[in-house]
Amino acid sequence: RLPAPFTVPLPVPPVARPVRPGHYELAQRAAKVEIIPGTRTEVWGFDGVFPGPTLDLRRGSQAVVRVRNELSVPTSTHLHGGVTPADSDGYPTDLVVAAGRGFRPVGGHSHGGMRIDPDLWKFHPGARDYVYPLDQRAATLWYHDHRMDFTGPQVWRGLAGFLLVRDDEDDALPLPKGDRDIPLMICDRAFDEDGAFRYPSRDPSLLVRAGVDDAYMEGVQGDVVLVNGAPWPELEVAAVRYRLRLLNASNARRYRLELRPGGRFVQVGSDAGLLAAPVEHDAVTIAPAERFDVVVDFSAYPVGTRVTLVNTLDGGTARNVMAFRVARKAADDSAIPARLSRPGRLHRSDAVTTRVFDFRKSGEWAGAWTINGRPFTPGTPLARPRLGTVELWRLASDFHHPVHVHLAHFQVLTRNGKAPAATDGGWKDTVDLRPYEVVEVLVRFEGYRGRYMMHCHNLEHEDMAMMADIDVV
Ligand code: C2O
Ligand code: CU
Repeated sequence: RLPAPFTVPLPVPPVARPVRPGHYELAQRAAKVEIIPGTRTEVWGFDGVFPGPTLDLRRGSQAVVRVRNELSVPTSTHLHGGVTPADSDGYPTDLVVAAGRGFRPVGGHSHGGMRIDPDLWKFHPGARDYVYPLDQRAATLWYHDHRMDFTGPQVWRGLAGFLLVRDDEDDALPLPKGDRDIPLMICDRAFDEDGAFRYPSRDPSLLVRAGVDDAYMEGVQGDVVLVNGAPWPELEVAAVRYRLRLLNASNARRYRLELRPGGRFVQVGSDAGLLAAPVEHDAVTIAPAERFDVVVDFSAYPVGTRVTLVNTLDGGTARNVMAFRVARKAADDSAIPARLSRPGRLHRSDAVTTRVFDFRKSGEWAGAWTINGRPFTPGTPLARPRLGTVELWRLASDFHHPVHVHLAHFQVLTRNGKAPAATDGGWKDTVDLRPYEVVEVLVRFEGYRGRYMMHCHNLEHEDMAMMADIDVV
């Protein structure tokens, strides 16, 4: 009973309203929503919606977000791409538990024999405040669950939303604005006959036992592509420029996005904000957690055209993503300036240290994805970079591993000894590391000291221990 592609209208997530200036409240709760027409799906959403409400905020104006947990499971909320004090960063064992609910820490999927120091577990009963100073460039960030060993199933059920940072520099550009500036959260899901999300948890209560069956070592994918929570939706557009903030919020699926019947994306921003200058792409490959801020000019198509966004990495049902129907002509005072920002460029010589991180499946730790041969060991950092320095990190892999660093943003220096890919430009917090590749990145540690992390953003790999503490000192 899946809908035909492009029959469901594209939803745009609601914008969160402050309870008082600078203060927001989001309740994590279960709700039944109609995703597949004619069926009901239970989602776990911030405020019961999926995607959660968009936090539309300004650089340098601190937001305090009170997250209240009304779910049956503990949660930890991470602001992905945020320059956030460590205490508010959503460490996986720093949990909010619904009021009146006890919780016993459960052993991990692949932590057999590994003990997590009991002092590392923190439980906030009912709710807690996350403090986001947002002293950072305008960018498309997102928040999502980060619970130890259970991030995959909890994000799959809907615990994710956008946080847009705006600033004067970005506002001053003549890029498309208002309802022509649209965040698009792309993620795949599978459904049961009755409309429930289908995820192969070994323990669907998510309370006793973590993990998925070995068949899902490579990550969990679905056959339905959702954009802003709707299956293969369609958006009616005017024949003008639109700014589309593409986010891949899938657990494990990568996409190569292209426009049909042809057309180009003009990239203006990456994970961590504006590029120096626009870059044109015929195709955008987007790995889990990456963002591409692109402008598409629909005046290039005759009125009446259906422009489809397709995923050319897939030939099946995940080939279609969404469509734009060019409905009418309209005035357009937007433009794409030749210069966007001065993001600054890091050089190899800026690095004070070189470190190597090898992302691979371990033979020794059965069922674990490891970094430098080690499964996630909370409290034992793999690196202790100094605040205010730049480091060169050489990332190597045996598979597709979208590598994400908390707190610090980076620039891609080389890919396999050559120049970075056209889609690697700008400040990033996640890089698409492909099988047997070596990618060098220059990472700048700015903001705060404390316990942060790096990990693979294939959420099943993350839950299967491909994560490490990074202590900024
Ligand atoms: Cu988007 Cu540590 O995560
Ligand atoms: Cu991985």
